[in-house]
Amino acid sequence: MRSQPSKGLVLLSDKELDKMRRVGRLAAELLNHLEPMVQPGISTQALNGEAERWTQAHGATSAQLGYTPPGHPPFPGSICTSVNEVICHGIPSRQQILKAGDIVNIDVTPLLEGYHGDTSRTFFVGNPSPSAQKLVQVTHECMLRGIAEIKPGARIGDIGAAIQAHAEANGFAVVRDFVGHGVGRQFHTEPSVPHFGQRGRGLRLKPGMVFTVEPMLNEGTYDFRILGDRWTVVTKDGKLSAQFEHTVAVTPDGVEILTL
Ligand code: MF3
Ligand code: CO
Ligand code: CO
Repeated sequence: MRSQPSKGLVLLSDKELDKMRRVGRLAAELLNHLEPMVQPGISTQALNGEAERWTQAHGATSAQLGYTPPGHPPFPGSICTSVNEVICHGIPSRQQILKAGDIVNIDVTPLLEGYHGDTSRTFFVGNPSPSAQKLVQVTHECMLRGIAEIKPGARIGDIGAAIQAHAEANGFAVVRDFVGHGVGRQFHTEPSVPHFGQRGRGLRLKPGMVFTVEPMLNEGTYDFRILGDRWTVVTKDGKLSAQFEHTVAVTPDGVEILTL
């Protein structure tokens, strides 16, 4: 998400963390459920329809459907499907048929018992080019390296610094304008979690903080533009972009990934 005005930093209680574990697991299971459907010939709308059906069947709703942050129209899908040069917030469409060689990020955010679980993965459709596969692999590694920095007393800047170093060492650019975010009862709240930056800078992490780490890496530059639908974010140069996202909690002795 783009940096949002502050809605206040909250620390979650153990009871709330249990709810976050439940919805986080549900979000991960939804991606597991969709993964085998990601095949050449399927439309992104078909993935969306199955995601909506599965979410409802599990007693949850999609926080993305109808989501209307300032400056945006209501989001028209239950998931985001971001194909190839789409950085994030791709809108599922009946006309968009996945083809062999594509990469597609599916971003899901079920809402269960008042809590949000936000996670995404980039999937291969058939066999993408070696360079596309490398982008996706390095993006996944970046997310994990960012998460590995998280523990009480660490700084928000440590996360971005680790991600940026690994991305740039591999020749990729880190998207600047869309960042990780606090999540819980609110979909997008403080803190803002940049995927670039300087070690030792920024907010000090405390047990009970819950936020996302969701780096977007581009093959070319990090410049972007937004399509006329006012949601779809694409690379300015038309080159590929990939993303992975987990929701994590800072624990007394480190970090817990809630969306495994
Ligand atoms: N799940 C996205 C995120 O990681 C937000 C999508 S908002 C939507 O923050 F409206 F586009 F669905
Ligand atoms: Co997300
Ligand atoms: Co998110």
